[in-house]
Amino acid sequence: MIGSSDNGKPDDIPFKAELTLRRLRPRLDEIWREADVSKRRRQEFDTRLETHWAPLFRLLYQLYGSRYDFFYHVEQVLHTAASAWAARPESLCEVDRQHINEPDWFQSERIVGGALYVDLFSENLCKARQHIPYFVDLGLTYLHLMPLFAVRPGNNDGGYAISNYRSVDPRLGTIDDLRQLASDLRAAGISLVLDFVFNHTADDHQWAQRAQAGEREYQDFYYMFPSREVPEQYERTLREIFPTVRRGNFTWHDGMRRWVWTTFNSFQWDLNYGNPAVFRAMLDEMLFLANVGVDILRLDAVAFIWKQMGTSCENLPEAHAVIQAFNHVARLSAPSLLFKSEAIVHPDEVVRYIGPDECQISYNPTLMALLWESLATRRTDLLVQTLSHRHRLPEGTAWVNYLRCHDDIGWTFDDLDAAAIGINARDHRRFLNDFYTGQFPGSFARGIPFQENHATGDMRISGTMASLAGLEQAVESDDETKKELAVRRMMLLHGITLSIGGIPLLYLGEEWGMLNDYDFALDPAKAGDSRWIHRPRMQWDYLDELNDTIGGTGSIRSRIFKSTQRLIALRKQLPALAGQAMELVSTDNSHTLGYVRKRDGHRVVVLANFSETTQSVDGNKLRTAGIGRFFEDVIRQQTYSTSENVQLEPYQILWLQRT
Ligand code: GLC
Ligand code: GLC
Repeated sequence: MIGSSDNGKPDDIPFKAELTLRRLRPRLDEIWREADVSKRRRQEFDTRLETHWAPLFRLLYQLYGSRYDFFYHVEQVLHTAASAWAARPESLCEVDRQHINEPDWFQSERIVGGALYVDLFSENLCKARQHIPYFVDLGLTYLHLMPLFAVRPGNNDGGYAISNYRSVDPRLGTIDDLRQLASDLRAAGISLVLDFVFNHTADDHQWAQRAQAGEREYQDFYYMFPSREVPEQYERTLREIFPTVRRGNFTWHDGMRRWVWTTFNSFQWDLNYGNPAVFRAMLDEMLFLANVGVDILRLDAVAFIWKQMGTSCENLPEAHAVIQAFNHVARLSAPSLLFKSEAIVHPDEVVRYIGPDECQISYNPTLMALLWESLATRRTDLLVQTLSHRHRLPEGTAWVNYLRCHDDIGWTFDDLDAAAIGINARDHRRFLNDFYTGQFPGSFARGIPFQENHATGDMRISGTMASLAGLEQAVESDDETKKELAVRRMMLLHGITLSIGGIPLLYLGEEWGMLNDYDFALDPAKAGDSRWIHRPRMQWDYLDELNDTIGGTGSIRSRIFKSTQRLIALRKQLPALAGQAMELVSTDNSHTLGYVRKRDGHRVVVLANFSETTQSVDGNKLRTAGIGRFFEDVIRQQTYSTSENVQLEPYQILWLQRT
């Protein structure tokens, strides 16, 4: 690593950092004076510089230190950071102060997340504000609004092709509506999560437009090549992420007569972080978002942000350095801001993005995939094998545990974890794909393929939680037994993500068991992307069903809603469910999963049955978990004891506490 003493010379980076800062002091004072920044705020920034300046400088040096204009860029970075702090609204500085004093606020048992598309859920930002009581009623304290910025016309990859990070899609509202929503959410105890789509811009972003107009400066914001030669060299070691969109990772642009790097859709141009001007420009966009009142930034597609010939161009060390550098600036200028990593890659790589200095929270794609795997196989071996060495995270960080999101399901477990228990990963993924597309005999699932790659045999799955869990098939055949099983599967999955450690995240629509929406195929801007099947429009008339009672049991939707809401409320009453630490409890029954959560003298043991037959677990097995001889399931308020077998009904989940 650059700056270490491996060449025998003493490490002079800290010295350079110190010297640079000393040189830049007058610039800082100028910024404070111009913006009339209070003494308190200046001191706060100074204190944080003591911690974050040296590591930030080191990272920038690692990334850009060999450039002749390195010090110019460093100066600009500090300028951007200080200006953002100077411009930060006082109400947000208050939040900063609170979170500095309570750094593990996001580890609380009271935190529960939800994600939604503003247009599909609420139509626009103003109406989303009116839905705050709904979020509160469901129990949410964290709300991820899918990308809501100005986008290119036509297909915009569900908002991920951004043409301006500082303006809201006019169909949804204005940046002031967003500010208002952020502040109203905060008043209701809900943190706002927005995307930071920093791997690429839309092809009509101003930078892309200027590149198209021939400006070299902006062509250097992206990766562009006049001939196939270099792209082909890269291609030798690259994956294809969207193989049905286009073969390979490059798109020919006729106007510029250049190949443009496009990892995702052809209209999403990858940014070139090898260029420090790109780092600075995106830093500015990031801090703008922070000052709008975002609590958590979801860092989109983190794996792809650095490229190097001869590698997969995924998960490179420099990608981590870029994110860490962003993080240090966030600590300086918007210290309450958290980063959430979206790395849907091999589990060994997923965790490398997680740390107090990089992304404090991260999607847990491996748990997500393996919960579905366990439902399909009715066995928990692979889940247990994986959790046994992959759940633990560094202090001050947390998983975000989800079941479905706006994206597909990829079977991202580790082949070696599978091999360790005698599973051939390749065959197993084929089985899972067959199962979740409903082709496997007896499958309850109704998913459809996403990005099937005929060359490699790879495929991912689209479908809503309810359709994948069997509800669609059950409703179609109007089979009460099947409906019951489907609902139980859904509650089992929620029961796990709400208790296993980390932040549970619902993808809204799940609370009603919303089924696949096949109409996406009628919209030409969506037809080519099967993920739209699981992005249905919210039906607000469902709320009316909450009060109907057909035969005393209510509609199946209202049952799903009420059960979900109740589980959320129960979670919040159990301090043992805070934090991250989880220990597996061996159940000696491979259809079941057992674990214990402990915190501040509180304990909860979770036992779950992943099969549609009754299973029993020897009560003695729970002795080691230390919940005493008699314990109660807080979900159904039934008591058990270590001297008996604990019987688990089909798909039942128990949250057990000492009585
Ligand atoms: C992320 C998003 C996904 C999008 C991709 C490109 O993975 O979750 O929806 O297609 O990035 O932005
Ligand atoms: C791949 C990418 C991930 C993206 C997803 C979209 O899994 O790794 O970043 O969200 O594709 O389908």
